[in-house]
Amino acid sequence: MTAAYQVHGDVAVITLNNPPVNGLGHATRLGITDGLNRANADPAVRAIVITGAGKAFSGGADIKEFGTPKALQEPNLLSVILAVENSAKPVIAAVHSVAMGGGLELALGCHYRIAAPGCNVALPEVKIGLIPGAGGTQRLPRVLGVETALNMIVSGEAVKSELLASLPGQKLFDKMAASVESLPAEALALAKAMADKHQDGSALPLVRNLPCKHPLGDAYFQFARNMVKGMAKNFPAPPKCVDAVEAATKKKFDEGMLYERELFINLMMTPECRALRHIFTAERAASKIPDVPEGTPQRPIQSVAVIGAGTMGGGIAMNFLNAGIPVKMLEMKQEALDRGLATIRKNYESQVKRGKLKADKYEQRMGLLSTTLDYSDLKDADLVIEAVFEEMGVKEAVFKKLDEVMKPGAILASNTSTLDVNQIAAFTKRPQDVIGTHFFSPANVMKLLEVVRGEKTAKDVLATVMAVGKKIRKTAVVSGVCDGFIGNRMIEQYSRQAGFLLDEGCTPAQVDKAVEKFGFAMGPFRMGDLAGNDIGWAIRKRRAQERPNMLYSRTADKLCELGRFGQKTGAGWYDYQAGKRDAIPSALVVGMIEKHRAELGIQPRKISDDEIVKRLVYALVNEAAHILEEGIASRASDIDMVYLTGYGFPVHRGGPMLYADQVGLFNVVQSMQQFAKNPHDDATFWQPAPLLARLAAEGKTFN
Ligand code: NAI
Repeated sequence: MTAAYQVHGDVAVITLNNPPVNGLGHATRLGITDGLNRANADPAVRAIVITGAGKAFSGGADIKEFGTPKALQEPNLLSVILAVENSAKPVIAAVHSVAMGGGLELALGCHYRIAAPGCNVALPEVKIGLIPGAGGTQRLPRVLGVETALNMIVSGEAVKSELLASLPGQKLFDKMAASVESLPAEALALAKAMADKHQDGSALPLVRNLPCKHPLGDAYFQFARNMVKGMAKNFPAPPKCVDAVEAATKKKFDEGMLYERELFINLMMTPECRALRHIFTAERAASKIPDVPEGTPQRPIQSVAVIGAGTMGGGIAMNFLNAGIPVKMLEMKQEALDRGLATIRKNYESQVKRGKLKADKYEQRMGLLSTTLDYSDLKDADLVIEAVFEEMGVKEAVFKKLDEVMKPGAILASNTSTLDVNQIAAFTKRPQDVIGTHFFSPANVMKLLEVVRGEKTAKDVLATVMAVGKKIRKTAVVSGVCDGFIGNRMIEQYSRQAGFLLDEGCTPAQVDKAVEKFGFAMGPFRMGDLAGNDIGWAIRKRRAQERPNMLYSRTADKLCELGRFGQKTGAGWYDYQAGKRDAIPSALVVGMIEKHRAELGIQPRKISDDEIVKRLVYALVNEAAHILEEGIASRASDIDMVYLTGYGFPVHRGGPMLYADQVGLFNVVQSMQQFAKNPHDDATFWQPAPLLARLAAEGKTFN
């Protein structure tokens, strides 16, 4: 049963019970209408309370039903709310903890509402590319006023029940309960009182009958539209929220409902909505590992050690300090420790200056940080993360030392971005305790954490590190061991294509612009200048030995030979003015590219933005298909999460894999075959990965 029915004296109580958040799936909806029918048929019952068991009143639609016919199966949510409104006996919503989306819409259909303090109230549909679809846009403005309601609907953000209850003139809550604990008894009392009140047969109040107007009328909606347009950028839903709320002020209630429905259904079909719903489920899926069951025991992580206080070590340490976990940092020299500590301080101080961090919190966090030059000081840490130079010899020395000193059961993690985690594990006598934690720079800001599972990594170690990722508010995605793991292995192919595009006729600015217009936060060349072109150069040199047959454009090497490493040297693919970050196209670089092109004997051709984007994105997709097939990633949506949270892939496109699915894999392969005919590209580059070829031929998708 996902909704329980009980009678307390002369009040029937329908308790939603569909953990974790009492999602309004089909069985729950049926439970509500059944309860209403029973209560209305029972002469001993005079009023009805609807409430939620456990941690929520209701979080809204059941995500398992998203986009499936079940979501619409009768009684759908609209019919349930209508049944509530039509109940002859007063229906009281008793809300606590969470009243969101369809849950709030259900409460708005009730005749009376009582709330516990601390309840998160929201219509978050906009976050998945929709507007509320069960009357939220028509009823919320009637109880909270147009402006407050529109702000909530456009932002999707939760507001606490006590705050809403304090708004002058609000009609959302008829009563506030003293606490969550007293809510059931207070709801019963309110139900009895309302049964008495309407004993004379007086009409039950309905939100739909309340007036809805904004004093400024059109002028207000014009203003709201302008505000929303700036925020919404690539997403169609926010402006539709304004349209729907405006309709509440202009149309009759039932017409407004139809209009809301029409907008809702149209939005449901958009690729942006599909992308956001995909991300919503992908995020949850990423934390599940096929062969590591949910209840796998975890090792307690109460203290952390970080080896190396450089760029990454400092950022990594901050993540744990922010989560209230003490960190000890180790370096070889005091100067390096001092430098690392100063950087962390500077970082926090700038947050304090910008009002993002309270001064006492800053002191609290710094109080959790200590430093040492002596490995034996680390021995009791539950987790140690190594972030020293990217050289196998250095990693070997560090892990041998860690193996010597760390207590049994401590987790030994490496932040390596390219080295073999299995080899690193083999430096210890406890490879089962070794794992990769690949943070992205700046490590205290970037959401992505690739958790690299070695051949011998124990399941409880993996489960623990995934949970730690969540604790420090990262999107943790599991990757198997391979050169570059998921993200950087794919970016290598993207960078190679970007290089070929220069050889064939593009300028860096043209490539960047095309990719940024597609929605990437930054094109490949601006990105290179930001990260430092020397990093890729070093990796290419190493790979040239490991994979001598892999073809690269030589332009990036030539750039580095000129010392143009990017922003840090004041020049890279672009020129930079001192102290500024604006990328200014460089005549020198364009000249260098043209000269190189002439040396190769290539006649430059005009390349369209469409071709640029396809070649770069399909380069990612094809490598991703290999990664998926090899089991490096467990699911396509994990790869999407990596690209969305670590590489600035446009959110409204849902990640490279969903994008390819939406284009159609058949079309992707067709384009690749076209590119393969290009004489200046690497001919083997566009060989479709077997998985991609198979899915395309069968008319299937990655996701
Ligand atoms: P970094 O050069 O800024 O910092 C490395 C630090 O390690 C230096 O402070 C150095 O003094 C210290 N160190 C070197 N050998 C040591 C030893 N034996 N014992 C103790 N400390 C030692 O380097 P960065 O950029 O922080 O990189 C560290 C690791 O993180 C590398 O494995 C790198 O591949 C990886 N990484 C770097 C990213 C980046 O964007 N910089 C991104 C993701 C991973």
